[in-house]
Amino acid sequence: MSQQLNDEIARRRTFAIISHPDAGKTTLTEKLLLYGGAIHVAGAVKSNKIKKTATSDWMEIEKQRGISVATSVMGFDYGDYKINILDTPGHQDFAEDTYRTLTAVDSVIIVVDVAKGVEQQTRKLMEVCRMRNTPVIIFVNKLDREGRDPFEILDELEAELKIAVRPLSWPINIGQKFKGVYNIYEQSLDLFTPNKQKVTERVEIDNVEDPRVDEAVGESDATKLREDLELIEGVYPEFDPEQYLAGELAPVFFGSALNTFGVKELLDCFVKIAPSPKPVDAEERTIKPQEEQFSGFVFKIHANMDPNHRSCIAFVKICSGKFERNAPYKHIRTGKTLKFAAPTAFMAQKKNIVDEAFPGDIVGIPDTGNFKIGDSVTSGEAIHFKGLPSFSPEMFKYIENTDPMKSKQLEKGIQQLMDEGVAQLFVNQFNGRKIIGTVGQLQFEVIQYRLLHEYGAQCRWEPLSMYKACWIESDDAEALNAFKKRKHQFMAVDRDGRDVFMADSNYVLQMAQNDFPAIKFHFTSEF
Ligand code: G4P
Repeated sequence: MSQQLNDEIARRRTFAIISHPDAGKTTLTEKLLLYGGAIHVAGAVKSNKIKKTATSDWMEIEKQRGISVATSVMGFDYGDYKINILDTPGHQDFAEDTYRTLTAVDSVIIVVDVAKGVEQQTRKLMEVCRMRNTPVIIFVNKLDREGRDPFEILDELEAELKIAVRPLSWPINIGQKFKGVYNIYEQSLDLFTPNKQKVTERVEIDNVEDPRVDEAVGESDATKLREDLELIEGVYPEFDPEQYLAGELAPVFFGSALNTFGVKELLDCFVKIAPSPKPVDAEERTIKPQEEQFSGFVFKIHANMDPNHRSCIAFVKICSGKFERNAPYKHIRTGKTLKFAAPTAFMAQKKNIVDEAFPGDIVGIPDTGNFKIGDSVTSGEAIHFKGLPSFSPEMFKYIENTDPMKSKQLEKGIQQLMDEGVAQLFVNQFNGRKIIGTVGQLQFEVIQYRLLHEYGAQCRWEPLSMYKACWIESDDAEALNAFKKRKHQFMAVDRDGRDVFMADSNYVLQMAQNDFPAIKFHFTSEF
């Protein structure tokens, strides 16, 4: 095991910031980049989010997609650490993209708005984190605005996100009266000055009993702070880093991203406690990052929207070994040996060609259609990485060809868009019709637009009232056959040829579950 490889792995922190739209993800990302010296002025990060108002404005989305390639991964050095932030699309119609990005990170920071608390998108994303036991740190944002009582927020986080919490910083008032944050982790006090550029004013204190606390925030707020802390110590057990790493306990920080307040504390604690790249499960075995042989998987494919340059960038997460430019690597699904002449890494806002990269890093590989989401690339060993499940879509439509002369183009277009992970394709076994499943209306528009502009194929959507797609299996072949026979009108196959039951209502699904106890119904494709 080489020392260089070990050192590079130990200093890497690869994570994603997730939140419900508008909680402050973009703002926090930007402030972290400021601290990392990756950017020099606030406002430099163009938001990758697609604003709610623009939901049907496809051209606007395209423009933003252009920006989002550059901001998909942001790497920077902070002290001895190499930090990789993986951006996730803010718009909920691209949730599937976010789920996949979460398979490529070792931890996450969740941003919650202090006034709004836990919102729908946060809850969903947390479920994905829980499936993978991803360590989570929570940043409660917008303390400069009126919001909820911090104890109440903690209770809500615990109840709604189903994870134990432990505050590591504590606000002194909130909104108009917000005075600052006491850092429990380091026993220090930072006073709040509303200023978007200036960094916090720190008060020299020994601990919370120090009279300088009273001088800084006034006697009554100092007393309240001490009482709050006493309560915290009484209610919440000591912070246990092991529990955090196991995904069972989320440390909580309070601050205001917009005012760059509480952000450095978050970052400093994050680099100390967050995990470096972890072993990754493949079907064959578990791969440790320290292994000399290179391995990685494709978790995202970003298509070039310009029809004249139909190339893609495949985002490869490195799982083990050192990745080298121009080295021969095996593309496991096709068995081809490929050499990558122009892999890019993402440092700050720029893409640069890199000669080498390490576990935890993401490299962008220009591709002309070799890669599918989930593909493994290795030095030679036949490894198939797991952990890129498809989730049951929430919206379904039949896709129909409207130009019979272009059916081949349509076929190819659908195939490639599905390989890219834009949506999911199911083929009904009863009537052979193709069903596209998405998590939002916007994706149907994206598909229609791209089929036309990139493949010259025209399609139309036909409504389909469907509740969920469930992957089914059973140890009992007879029961499985009986089920398929009974439900033959509702049976489909996914792109890998697996059996999927298309339930048209929750009631029908429940009935099916009751009537066929030998059948297992799964809501993700990996089980
Ligand atoms: P998102 O990526 O999670 O969707 O959220 P984003 O960072 O874009 O923040 C959403 C809005 O909340 C922005 O305002 C942003 O300025 C504001 N915001 C973020 N952090 C704080 C904070 O600590 N305090 C306060 N008061 N506001 C905060 P906007 O008006 O929607 O956008 P913009 O026009 O200012 O960019």
